[in-house]
Amino acid sequence: MKLLSKQIVIFIGICIAATTVYAKDVNSLRGSHPIEANSKKPVAKKWHSDQAPIKREFVHQPPLVPHKIEGYVINTNSNKCLSCHSWANYKDKGATKISLTHFTDRDGNDLANVSARRYFCTQCHVPQVDSKPLVKNTFKPVKSIMGK
Ligand code: HEC
Ligand code: HEC
Repeated sequence: MKLLSKQIVIFIGICIAATTVYAKDVNSLRGSHPIEANSKKPVAKKWHSDQAPIKREFVHQPPLVPHKIEGYVINTNSNKCLSCHSWANYKDKGATKISLTHFTDRDGNDLANVSARRYFCTQCHVPQVDSKPLVKNTFKPVKSIMGK
């Protein structure tokens, strides 16, 4: 019994020490700003204007969105992206049709319409701004896709 309570005291001691160390070292992308203080007002970035499709960097990369999407609503009632990119509309709108992979559900069944897991397009496809990367990145495109 006595031994057990000693162990508990040591354990609590270690926890407190660990918390103190981490509290000092943790520095989020927001900076070492006190949580109660207001963060710096972010500078509004300018979206790139509409352009030709952007080169992909690796196989299976969700292509980047080469146009503005401000005001494009995606919710349970409507999906603005599909008004141009669906198989029914892509020809009229001159847009790329969503690929067949977007019709497969997580169990591998092929559906007649976009799978729920591919419904929220901006989960994977992102429009572009000129912005400094938040973290350093040394990624290089794979050879098999370079030049495409
Ligand atoms: C008004 C029609 C329209 C709407 C709405 C629209 N797009 Fe597009 N999208 C286009 C056109 C046109 C292209 C360019 C096709 C080309 O030049 O080859 C394009 C290109 C793209 C591409 C690049 C495809 C590639 O192969 O590189 C992606 C990704 C994309 N759109 C995603 C989206 C997403 C996500 C939304 C909704 C948030 C959306 N689009 C809404 C018309 C539209
Ligand atoms: C879970 C991630 C994910 C979601 C959600 C998603 N996509 Fe994609 N998309 C991808 C990937 C990965 C590719 C490239 C490989 C492929 O074709 O599957 C792609 C490819 C595309 C392409 C290019 C097709 C081609 O033939 O080159 C278009 C256009 C596109 N997606 C539009 C959309 C639209 C519109 C939505 C929303 C209805 C959407 N995607 C939702 C991951 C996603």
